[in-house]
Amino acid sequence: MAAPVKRTCEDSSDISSKLSTGCKDEKKLETFLTWSKENNLWISPKVCVTKEGSCAQYGMLTTEKVDSGECLFKVPRKLLLHPKTSAISRLLKKEAAALTSDSGWVPLLLALMYEYNNPESTWRPYLDLVPDFRELDLPMFWPENERESLLGTANGILKCVESDIKSLTAEFNTIVLPFVQKHSDVLSPACESLDLYKKMVAFVMAYSFTEPAPDEDQAKEDVPTKSAPMMVPMADILNHVAHNNAELRFEKEFLKMVSTAEIAKGAEVFNTYGMLSNKDELHMYGFSERYPNNDKDTVDIPAAVLKSMAGDLEANQTDKTLLDEKWEFLMEQVRIILFMLSFLLLLIILGLF
Ligand SMILES: C[S@@+](CC[C@H](N)C(=O)[O-])C[C@H]1O[C@@H](n2cnc3c(N)ncnc32)[C@H](O)[C@@H]1O
Repeated sequence: MAAPVKRTCEDSSDISSKLSTGCKDEKKLETFLTWSKENNLWISPKVCVTKEGSCAQYGMLTTEKVDSGECLFKVPRKLLLHPKTSAISRLLKKEAAALTSDSGWVPLLLALMYEYNNPESTWRPYLDLVPDFRELDLPMFWPENERESLLGTANGILKCVESDIKSLTAEFNTIVLPFVQKHSDVLSPACESLDLYKKMVAFVMAYSFTEPAPDEDQAKEDVPTKSAPMMVPMADILNHVAHNNAELRFEKEFLKMVSTAEIAKGAEVFNTYGMLSNKDELHMYGFSERYPNNDKDTVDIPAAVLKSMAGDLEANQTDKTLLDEKWEFLMEQVRIILFMLSFLLLLIILGLF
């Protein structure tokens, strides 16, 4: 039998004062939890959703000790928000050919824009709980002069953000806007806004999940195949750290959040968004972890810097020709490795590997 879902801060006795005092937006949270319960989203009595004690906006905290391997909540597949579950699924399917893009995100973004602007949306309580997207502080929302502060050490992010903005703007102008205008009987004029589209891109970037490709056994059991991103209510409330203590598992009927370590009473439940360096965290989620917490962190060293450092180190020891030859040899190896990786990727895409 499903345990009651209403797990706000008041539920646990001795940590209740710590958890309940700052429970703002209580109404929105209550509405979301009631909606979750009504839609068969089971949540363990050992956890609660709260803003108090969470590292960013809402978070999930334990109300008693949790052992490794415990199910913390189960989200039924019908509650997932993606193009096939959206109220405009038929339209998106009919027009699928016109909605293809490099990112593959357009159908989901249109579904989100539709649901977000629909007061009667099935996902209204979920969408109402999501913060103003600007609170996410992704570099794509920073003013241009602030983004330039990423030059240098975080140069890679600047390039990624500029490329994101360029491609989302092109996608909007060439695919989304014509589609919205063509179907103005279904999609409201609010969906003609590039600003809203950009917010939805940020929402997908920072909140969506992508189902892993099924292994052969699962494929035989007819588990849905690898899909584009989708929104998973409740799971996306969890924050991320490199040393997470929970992970999302995709099953046939439900998506389950399962603890991967013992979690002390009152501690935050952290999911993993993937093997992310601080650069990835900042680019896609607008935060990064303090040294030395993120053991998945990496640093990009431009090849030109490496060569110039090698030149400095070898000065007076070797002539410049030898350094150039060594450098050309190294670059040749890199080109061969990249060629082999591309070939491997092609085989994987063609299903031959
Ligand atoms: C999947 S959402 C998590 C939802 C968020 N807790 C909420 O209630 O809206 C991802 C966003 O949460 C925030 N976040 C997640 N993990 C974080 C962390 N370790 N430190 C700071 N912010 C974090 C970032 O704003 C990120 O873009």
